[in-house]
Amino acid sequence: MRHLIDIMDLSVEELDEMIAVAKDIIDNPEKYAHKCDGMKLATLFFEPSTRTRLSFEAAMYELGGNVLGFSEAQSSSAAKGESVSDTIRTVGCYADIIAMRHPKEGAPVVGTRRSTVPVINAGDGGHNHPTQTLTDLLTISREKGRLNNLTIGLCGDLKFGRTVHSLISAMSRYDNVKFVLISPEELKVPEYLKEEVIIRNGLECEETTDLEKVMPELDILYMTRVQRERFFNEQDYLRLKDSYILTPEKLETAKEDLSILHPLPRVNEISVEVDDDPRAVYFKQVLNGKFIRMALILKLLNK
Ligand code: CP
Repeated sequence: MRHLIDIMDLSVEELDEMIAVAKDIIDNPEKYAHKCDGMKLATLFFEPSTRTRLSFEAAMYELGGNVLGFSEAQSSSAAKGESVSDTIRTVGCYADIIAMRHPKEGAPVVGTRRSTVPVINAGDGGHNHPTQTLTDLLTISREKGRLNNLTIGLCGDLKFGRTVHSLISAMSRYDNVKFVLISPEELKVPEYLKEEVIIRNGLECEETTDLEKVMPELDILYMTRVQRERFFNEQDYLRLKDSYILTPEKLETAKEDLSILHPLPRVNEISVEVDDDPRAVYFKQVLNGKFIRMALILKLLNK
């Protein structure tokens, strides 16, 4: 039985295979419409979500399966003190596969220890978000036609941004990828990630606070939200929240074939005027999230 806790649980060959399956689902949805007939996905969301939970649910319905679950901890027995481990063990009696989001880093790993069914980490605190990374990889692959030979700018909250951490780990395994890390000093990529992924693998990397300076270099611009829920101090959040706001003017020096991604939700960091720019692909990215989660469900259920 396989779980997905960290994007590094999947080999590059498996990533490429899942991207290929997702593309086949897009081209031939009828082939997949009954693959999960009679099966159930449980979505256990102890933290808010729109895209991840609903795309998982849409994915399972489109595979012919059904869905059960909860969307807030307060409506589950976690509110009475039940452990994550007991919750997962219980839900495994009702469902064939579980997708869970939890505010505590490492909670999905704890959930796997006594689980009788595959568990998917749908985001754990500021740690990892592997299915967002699968979504990002499918989007980059569809937009650019490759996952190598790319300069990727990651901008915003690189400290708490779990989607950033997972994406750096995943992209570090493809050839000739350069990272440009754009953040305020206080929200830089954690040292452990720099040392264990970027430095250890000898990857090219530039750190800056200046988005406009590096804009002309970028093939991908991955914008992120400064996450209020991760700050201990409201003053710090208010000071940093509008550090970067992408506008049409700031894109004037960007490449014509730049792709602008954002895991969403957005608050202020991309002005709505940018949405009409053909380089803005973040709503295509939302749709890709459903297709790649269909591919993931199939893989973990051996379908
Ligand atoms: N990208 C993402 O994880 O969005 P949600 O928080 O809406 O699931």
